[in-house]
Amino acid sequence: MPKANNTQPRVPKTAIAILAAGRGTRLKSKHPKVLHEVGGKPLLAHVIAAATKVVPASDVFAIIGHEAERVRSAVAASGIGFVLQSQQRGTGHALMVARKALAPYDLVMVLYGDAPLITSQTIQQLRDFHLSKKAAMTLLTARLENPGGYGRIVRKKAGRDDVKAIVEQKNLTPAQQKIHEINAGFYAFDAKLLFSHIEELSTDNHHGEFYLTDMASILAKAKHRVVALQARDDYEVLGGNTRAELSEIDQHMRLAKCRQLMDEGVTILYPEMCVIDSDVEVGADTVIEPGVQLRGTTRVGSDARIGSYSVILSCEIGDEALIQTGCVLEHSVIRARASLGPYSHLRPGCEVCEEAHIGNFVELKKTRVGKGSKANHLTYLGDTDVGENANVGAGTITCNYDGVSKHKTIIEDGVFVGSDSILIAPVRIGKGAYVAAATTVTEDVPPDSLALGRARQIVKEGWAKAKREKAKAQKAK
Ligand code: UD1
Ligand code: CA
Repeated sequence: MPKANNTQPRVPKTAIAILAAGRGTRLKSKHPKVLHEVGGKPLLAHVIAAATKVVPASDVFAIIGHEAERVRSAVAASGIGFVLQSQQRGTGHALMVARKALAPYDLVMVLYGDAPLITSQTIQQLRDFHLSKKAAMTLLTARLENPGGYGRIVRKKAGRDDVKAIVEQKNLTPAQQKIHEINAGFYAFDAKLLFSHIEELSTDNHHGEFYLTDMASILAKAKHRVVALQARDDYEVLGGNTRAELSEIDQHMRLAKCRQLMDEGVTILYPEMCVIDSDVEVGADTVIEPGVQLRGTTRVGSDARIGSYSVILSCEIGDEALIQTGCVLEHSVIRARASLGPYSHLRPGCEVCEEAHIGNFVELKKTRVGKGSKANHLTYLGDTDVGENANVGAGTITCNYDGVSKHKTIIEDGVFVGSDSILIAPVRIGKGAYVAAATTVTEDVPPDSLALGRARQIVKEGWAKAKREKAKAQKAK
C-alpha cells in the first residue's frame, strides 16, 4: 500500500458564504433581487453553481433574509445550507449572523449573490492567491472604465498587492473618485481573524450599515495582511443592481454561451439574435438560425437544424431533427430525424418519434407520435397515442376534454385518419383501420376496418343553374 504523503500542506477547510439577503431596492421590483434571472436562471443559481464546483454543497451557505422562503425554495435543490439574516443591516452584518455556521472553518470565502458571472476558476485562484500570500483577507478587484457605484480600492503603494482600505462610492474623497480599481465583492478570509475582528465594524457611514468592506482597513490597521488580486476578465465582477446592469450581464452571458457552443462545433447564424440559456446543450454540426430561443434544460443532438423564431423550452431534440420556422415546443422529446413545423406547437408531455412529421398549425398536448407517423396540417391531438406509420389527415381534431375530465385517443400502427375527422375520446382506432374523411368517430374502430360516419351526399343536378336563371329573370322585371 502506498504511504500517505505527510509532507503535503493540509488544504484548509473552506466554506463559501453567498450574501443573498438584500431586497434590491434599485431594481424597483416586488421580487427579491437574487431571483431575477440572467442567462435564463436566477442570479443566485449562477453563483451557487460556481461555488459548488469549488467546495461540496454542504460547505456553501447562502445568507438569506428578504423573502427568505421564496429564495430558499428556488435554490434548495442545490443542497447548500442557509442562514437567516432577518434584518438586513449590511454585508458585514450578514457575516456576523452567519458566524456560528462559518466559524468552524479555516477559510471563509464570500461571494455576493447578485454578481453571477463569477467562475469556479476565479474562486479557486482567489483561494490559492490568499494562501500563497498568507493573508488575513484577500479581495478580487477589477479596473473598470466606469467604476461608478462600486467600492474603490486604496492600495498601500501603487503596484503592490497590499490594500489599505476599500472605500464605498458615497464616502469617496475627490482624489479617490479618480480610482478605477473596484471591489468585486469576492473575498477570502482567515476565519479566525475575520471573527476576532468582525465586532469592530460600525454603522458610522452613509447608509448606517455594517459594511463588510470595512474589514479591509480594520485588518490592515491591526497589522494583518490584506491583499488584492485583479480579475483576469473585467466582466466577471459585474453586479446586477439595476435593470440596465442585469441586461448587460444577460447579454454578456448569452454571447459567451453562443461562443462556447460555436467552439464546440455548432453553427449559429447571427448569434447576437439568439437567446440560449446557460444550461442548454447542443451537439456539433447543428445549425441554429437567427432569432431562435433555446431555454431551460433544452438538449439538442448533432446535425439538427433549428429554424428561425422557434422557441424551445426544456426539450430534448434528437440528431438530425429538423425544426422549421416558428415552432413553440415545451417540455417534450423529439427523436432523431423527426421533422416539425413550420409553426408547430408542442405543449408539455409530447414525444415525437424517429422520422415522424408534424406540420404547420398542428398542436400536440401529452401526445406520442410513433416512428414514421405524420400529422402534417391544421390538427389538434391531445392525450393521444399514435402508433407507427400512421397518417393523420388535415384538420383532424381529438375531443379529449368533456368539460370535466380528459380522455385518451389511441391511433394504432398504420391507421389512416381522413381529413377533417373528429375523434371523440375515449376512443381507439385499431391497427391498419381507415377513418373516412369528415367522420365523427364516437366508437372504437376494429383493426383493418373502415369507419365512415358522415351525412350521405345528395346531388341535385342543374340546381345552381336554375337558381341563377331565376335571379336573372327577377332582375329583368
Ligand atoms: C457591494 C460592496 C462594494 C462592491 C460591490 C460589488 C459593500 C458595503 N459594498 O456594494 O464595495 O463594489 O458590492 O458588486 O459590501 N446583502 C445581504 N445582507 C445585507 C446587505 C446585502 O445579504 O444586509 C447582500 C445582497 O443581497 C447582495 C450583496 O449582499 O447580494 C451585495 O449587496 P449590495 O447592496 O448589492 O452591495 P453593493 O451596493 O452592490
Ligand atoms: Ca450589488
